[in-house]
Amino acid sequence: MSKQHIIAATDVASTLEQLLREIEYDRLYVLTDGQTAQLCYPLVAQAVGDAHQITIPAGDDNKHVDSLCHVWSELSAHGATRHSLLINVGGGMVTDLGGFAAATFKRGISCINVPTTLLAMVDAAVGGKTGINLHSLKNEVGAFYPADAVVVSSQFLHTLDAPNLASGFAEMLKHGLISTEEHWAGLMRYDLNSPNLEALQPLIMESIRTKEHIVEQDPKEQHIRKALNLGHTLGHAFETLAMRRGTPCLHGYAVAWGLVGELYLSHVREGFPADKLRQTISFIKEVYGTSPFTCKDYDELFALMQHDKKNVGTEIRFTLLGGIGDIRIDRTATKEEIFEMLDFVREC
Ligand code: GLY
Repeated sequence: MSKQHIIAATDVASTLEQLLREIEYDRLYVLTDGQTAQLCYPLVAQAVGDAHQITIPAGDDNKHVDSLCHVWSELSAHGATRHSLLINVGGGMVTDLGGFAAATFKRGISCINVPTTLLAMVDAAVGGKTGINLHSLKNEVGAFYPADAVVVSSQFLHTLDAPNLASGFAEMLKHGLISTEEHWAGLMRYDLNSPNLEALQPLIMESIRTKEHIVEQDPKEQHIRKALNLGHTLGHAFETLAMRRGTPCLHGYAVAWGLVGELYLSHVREGFPADKLRQTISFIKEVYGTSPFTCKDYDELFALMQHDKKNVGTEIRFTLLGGIGDIRIDRTATKEEIFEMLDFVREC
């Protein structure tokens, strides 16, 4: 898998214009969703000129085969060839689905990701995972297909509300925890209550470098890429349960609460230092509040963790830490330890 060209842009239009001069292609297409078509497309419109714009409905519910089919059909009907270029302008839903459309149309065309949410900038748009949901199964069908380039600009962050900013920041926290104390400490100092978006840009780039460094070593998640699952075994269970209850929560909130539990397990099982545990948890409590789950939910959360696609057989697998940057993959825990972890999250 080739390395992605990650470009930090202060002015997204001129960066994209320059990039398009350097890339060879015959026809240009831009994918947006209903929301990014209105809020974000104007920022790239000048750079893409008369490119054909394809729009799919916004929201993860629409990350399915019908939307994908619409993108294929539009590309086909508007003369796309193997040498055409697709630019995905949007959050993770658009970059995942657009990346998969690019991976499969005529067996693969070039694409550029222009992530417009913090979550997509630091996670979905980098690392080459693309895909769609199948029925209620998230990312069930997809391909590893890195974009040719990813243009990252904090200009888009002005279009985000505070909860979506916090949601993306949870993945940044995860990246800090799996890299260095310095990186983690820089994130702990960031004030999400009155965010300075310019000061966020270098932290975003550091976060992307952390992810890139891991993906380069293990693009297909056979070993060290599992580090990126920290907080996600429990986090995905929280997210799915919230969805089932009809009170969905943002992905990053579920991950932040998942980090609380999995750092506790890291402390008990792997000796993760108590002071770093306390500091991280107090940051998470302050920004994300406490998880809305009670002890009545334990069995359902446990069953959801058992069905996590990262498991082997019925054993629940976690990524834990012995310290900041000291990654321990494929750790298992007993039901008793997992319930104790849930008690800890609830009591926090
Ligand atoms: N979102 C985790 C990964 O890209 O592997």
